[in-house]
Amino acid sequence: MIRYDIKDIKLSKAGKLRIEWAGSQMKVLDLIRQRFVKEKPLKDITLGACLHVTAETANLMIALKEGGASLALCASNPLSTQDDVAASLVEDYGIPTFAIKGEDKDTYYKHLNTVLDFNPQVTMDDGADLVTLLHTERNHQLNQVIGSSEETTTGVIRLRAMLKDGTLKIPVMAVNDSNTKHMFDNRYGTGQSTIDGIIRATNVLLAGKKFVVVGYGWCGRGLAQRARGMGSQVIITEVDPLKALEAVMDGFEVMPVSEAVKEADIICTATGNKTVLSVEHFKKMKEGTIVANTGHFNVEFDYEGLIKLSINRRQLRDNLEEVTLKDGEKIFVLASGRLINLASAEGHPPDVMDMSFANQALAAEFLVQNKNKLKAGVYTVPQELDDMIAKLKLESLGIRIDKLSKAQKKYLSSWNEGT
Ligand code: ADE
Repeated sequence: MIRYDIKDIKLSKAGKLRIEWAGSQMKVLDLIRQRFVKEKPLKDITLGACLHVTAETANLMIALKEGGASLALCASNPLSTQDDVAASLVEDYGIPTFAIKGEDKDTYYKHLNTVLDFNPQVTMDDGADLVTLLHTERNHQLNQVIGSSEETTTGVIRLRAMLKDGTLKIPVMAVNDSNTKHMFDNRYGTGQSTIDGIIRATNVLLAGKKFVVVGYGWCGRGLAQRARGMGSQVIITEVDPLKALEAVMDGFEVMPVSEAVKEADIICTATGNKTVLSVEHFKKMKEGTIVANTGHFNVEFDYEGLIKLSINRRQLRDNLEEVTLKDGEKIFVLASGRLINLASAEGHPPDVMDMSFANQALAAEFLVQNKNKLKAGVYTVPQELDDMIAKLKLESLGIRIDKLSKAQKKYLSSWNEGT
């Protein structure tokens, strides 16, 4: 009997079909899984993962298990769990899973603690919550941890802050920093799944709407591109001059957020920072403005502050709340400010998670191969592995590219040939 805490084990049949479909789109991860079956690089390793419990994550868990690891999985967000997938992970794949969509904060942390009760030597995070717990309440366990890996920008920012103030005591692989992760998952994955989440929550027409994207990092630019593709007039707000300039030259209107909120029909935050939309911004919004967040944590806009301003609230549809302010104006908030692409849609499509999770699987293998050799710190996945993932992804798509000739290679490594 394996341990688990999920919504309903009877949902497993639907979950398994969903896992299999996602798996059919994850060709690079599958190649790694096939090698893992033969080589068992994670033999005798207990791996604790705190990731969004989706069909894509299930395929990563399967690959790690086939690589020899014993696993325990919990959710990295209270709203992102696919309950049928969680059921199938337990029933069909024998993976201890602790995740229930909509779990409250106490249950969320209880689940994280349960994963750490398995005494993992390797941990895997999306947002750095396990690593944080390991460096605070559970720091007695740190000496048995070989290392960890981190999926997302927000988590990597937290880890670098821990490293800077001397808190970080283990090596952590910043999977987010691989090119085959952030250039694709953050951009195309967030772009598509955020639009998907907004549409599922509201069913509004995007064509002709003024769509404000707060933040022009990889996620913001992916979202901006896709919103434009749906016919919205896209406005970008930024604090970084270089990114703002890129947005201008990519053809977007750029202005301060305090002005953009007055024009917006839809606003979506994508910054990784806190309170980028404050109560003052809510007061300036037009009647009927739709507000969403696609950043990792629900701190990007001041939802609690907005609620304090309200005189009435109604849940109109799943993930769509009407908030009436004192002057009668209505603001529509999606998923209470939780990440809209996973709360209201299914997160990034499997094709793109394929590369992210190929990086995760190889990062776990790298940590085990380099046990006791890496100092505490934040590491990137080695360039050759990142390049190999790109190559395998192209192959899986049936796309061939050119090779440098000998003369070209020589030219690129020399300096004495000019005009
Ligand atoms: N992060 C964003 N989309 C995801 C997905 N589909 N599965 C796991 N983590 C994700």
